[in-house]
Amino acid sequence: MPQTIATHMNARATFKRMEDSTKEDFEIIVPQAIQHAQALADRVLAHLKLLQGDYGGFPIDRYSHCLQTATLALRDGRDEEYVVCALLHDIGDTLGSYNHQEIAGAILKPFVSEANHWMVDNHAIFQGYNFFHHVGLDRNLRDKFKGHPHYERTAEFIELYDNPAFDPSREILPIETFEPMVKRLMAAPRRSILLPDADARRA
Ligand SMILES: [Fe+2]
Ligand SMILES: [Fe+2]
Repeated sequence: MPQTIATHMNARATFKRMEDSTKEDFEIIVPQAIQHAQALADRVLAHLKLLQGDYGGFPIDRYSHCLQTATLALRDGRDEEYVVCALLHDIGDTLGSYNHQEIAGAILKPFVSEANHWMVDNHAIFQGYNFFHHVGLDRNLRDKFKGHPHYERTAEFIELYDNPAFDPSREILPIETFEPMVKRLMAAPRRSILLPDADARRA
């Protein structure tokens, strides 16, 4: 990296309270924020790999489960956005022991349709249909969403991709298959408070 850019990227604003910040401060901060955001996909992929070796008693580790869910979606002809949702749907398992689905939903929200976001954000209740009754919970908890426009989409995601993705004897494509998809999806946010007109630009 040329020295001038390196120096620029090491520059620091000097305010001690945000209310004292200036336009000049943000001329220092914004380029660094853009650079940071451009590496988001790399950080997400690195975080996904934290699930490697994390079995939690399951037949395959959580990383392989994510890869197999994405593999099933890809082989079934789903589009790239959907496949990335499948890949990342359980990325929240490391930090969201009580709400992992919402962690994944929040990470994906700027980049996906409202339908795909809702599907990821609520997938845990729908997967619960397959096991909640084994742990003293109501397997029909998903019924509270009956009639919701994305109920069927989410039930289908579970049935076709999340539910069967615990099988070490079935195909599990490597992360290299999915890395370019994550990078393409996360290169272009479509909604964020930091991009108030992003939806308009994409429409
Ligand atoms: Fe999950
Ligand atoms: Fe899952």
